[in-house]
Amino acid sequence: MRLKDKVAIITGGANGIGRAAVETFSSEGAKVVIADFAEEQGKQLESELREKNLDVLFVQLNVASKESVQSMVDTVLSNYGTIDILVNNAGITKDAMLVKMTEEDFDRVIDVNLKGVFNCTQAVVPHMIEKGYGKVINTSSVSGVYGNVGQTNYAATKAAVVGMTKTWAKELGRKGINVNAVAPGFTKTSMTEKMPEKVLNYMESIVSLQRLGVPKDIANAYLFLASDESSYVNGHVLNVDGGIMM
Ligand code: NAI
Repeated sequence: MRLKDKVAIITGGANGIGRAAVETFSSEGAKVVIADFAEEQGKQLESELREKNLDVLFVQLNVASKESVQSMVDTVLSNYGTIDILVNNAGITKDAMLVKMTEEDFDRVIDVNLKGVFNCTQAVVPHMIEKGYGKVINTSSVSGVYGNVGQTNYAATKAAVVGMTKTWAKELGRKGINVNAVAPGFTKTSMTEKMPEKVLNYMESIVSLQRLGVPKDIANAYLFLASDESSYVNGHVLNVDGGIMM
């Protein structure tokens, strides 16, 4: 029970990596808010986990909207009274080569992956400052650290997440709040299902462990950074990529 009675918000918690994190955190004793756009999958996960007597709550939100994020935070506070952990996991891709990328697709990815992380953290952190305790975990990507063909918009947001993580670690450390990021490698979810098989086979071949990640690999890293086992870790970007680059 590494998260006993902690209240955790996991954005993008209805699918993929976020879903694995919801399952992992709730089975470690946390009260977990599945904060996601996807209502059907979020409600389905909520009822599956409640049947196992786990304490989870689905709240629909669009991280790109400040109003929607504030309303989610209000709902969490009225249900649980506090927030200990925020995992900024929601993210999207709209891939295209630089010369073909539309302004609309550029802006959409910025709105969700960059502004969404800002919106959620800005809405949650005042409550953490008040209690002098909090854990913020952001989701970067190997694409943000090393760049990736076809991902101008996405790589820009994931590099920006690293910058925000380090800035917030410096601003908030003295308030008792740890801010860290995880940079997943290519992980089997609906996000990578959209990628051509040829590309995925190549990615697998350059991973030193010779396999793609699974959502639980990333959820375990979130768990470490959300637990008090990492209380002296701050401003760190943890690569969980099977060893793509060293
Ligand atoms: P996914 O597509 O399986 O799940 C993403 C979830 O975010 C979905 O449930 C979706 O409804 C939700 N979401 C999307 N836009 C939203 C919005 N505006 N407001 C609220 N929720 C929204 O994706 P996956 O693979 O689980 O990705 C999770 C995170 O990990 C993302 O930040 C992604 O960029 C990052 N990541 C994933 C990698 C991979 O290979 N799958 C590699 C590196 C990073």
